[in-house]
Amino acid sequence: MRPKRRPYVHDDFIRIRDLLVETHRAFHPPVNWGIERWNYARYFVAPMLGSWGDEGQSVEDSLAAIRLWEEMNGVWETEDGEIAGVVCIEHPDVNHPGYGEIFVQRHPEHIYLLEDMLAYGEERFANPRTGRVHIWVCGGDVSLLKAVRMRGFVKEESKSHAGQELELSEIPRPELPPGFEILTMADECDVDKRREIFGRAFDHPEPKEWPSRFAYEELMRAPDYEPENDIFIKADDGTYAACCIIWYDDHNKIGHMEPVGTHPEYRNLGLGRAIVYEALRRMRALGATTTPMEGGHEPFYEAIGFKTVRTWTRWEKDV
Ligand SMILES: CC(C)(COP(=O)(O)OP(=O)(O)OC[C@H]1O[C@@H](n2cnc3c(N)ncnc32)[C@H](O)[C@@H]1OP(=O)(O)O)[C@@H](O)C(=O)NCCC(=O)NCCS
Repeated sequence: MRPKRRPYVHDDFIRIRDLLVETHRAFHPPVNWGIERWNYARYFVAPMLGSWGDEGQSVEDSLAAIRLWEEMNGVWETEDGEIAGVVCIEHPDVNHPGYGEIFVQRHPEHIYLLEDMLAYGEERFANPRTGRVHIWVCGGDVSLLKAVRMRGFVKEESKSHAGQELELSEIPRPELPPGFEILTMADECDVDKRREIFGRAFDHPEPKEWPSRFAYEELMRAPDYEPENDIFIKADDGTYAACCIIWYDDHNKIGHMEPVGTHPEYRNLGLGRAIVYEALRRMRALGATTTPMEGGHEPFYEAIGFKTVRTWTRWEKDV
């Protein structure tokens, strides 16, 4: 019998995380999310957006955004209770530019569900301000290309980004300018400084636009978060100057980085390169053989050795 859609329930988080890991090698190009994006969406993006920009940064608003993320997701399940597909969002905030984007996580045996999954996304995720939905399609993803065409999506020629990769062989030792040191959240767990460097690195000077304390603590509760994989560079005056989190997928020997950033006042000093080299050395020590970067800052990653291996393009539909 055809798998049926049901609402997402709390316990699905780990089951879907495992599905992403177990089916990763079945797809070339890798069309499903990696563990970093799955962990990050639920444990960081949702709680962060829930209270983003508010002076009070209420925990209740963050919890409401997590609930909204959970409520919007759709799960397809087989008669035997196996997950056959998932449709999810990344930005559960109607004011975010990414609201209206549909993400499909597939099981290789149930690719025929793609059109049903798109239909669900079109019905549930349309941006009320534009009346549109969007989906990112990777070049070479023949089945999704066919499905979006069948459902009347149109390619947005101006919306594309590269997927980059680096094979992990010899990684240079990170070199820091004098007065900086590399630490992790296992060495020094100052959540307030850590959320400040996150906000500053993404060009938000205003504290109300930094992740709330609750959002950062929620990120630290993500199943694949490890404090020793949450790296930062500290200046000798105590300021955190750059940051990077590693998410290690042991099953596939893949090290993901999400996010990477340098405080605007400390850019072009080699700190971004240094923290990425540190992350690459750490992930290689864990067993990683490769690191993908889907939609990062392409010129930066290219400058430090990543190669462009695929292109993602956005498609849209008026619904
Ligand atoms: C991208 C970013 C991390 C770079 O940090 P940084 O500390 O200034 O980088 P570095 O000084 O180590 O630069 C390393 C190399 O990248 C190059 N580079 C850095 N930023 C660049 C840019 N915007 N365009 C082109 N090249 C860039 C540098 O020229 C340098 O190359 P070189 O050694 O050949 O001269 C920083 O600009 C940033 O935090 N941006 C906002 C957040 C972001 O986009 N993060 C990445 C996606 S998750």
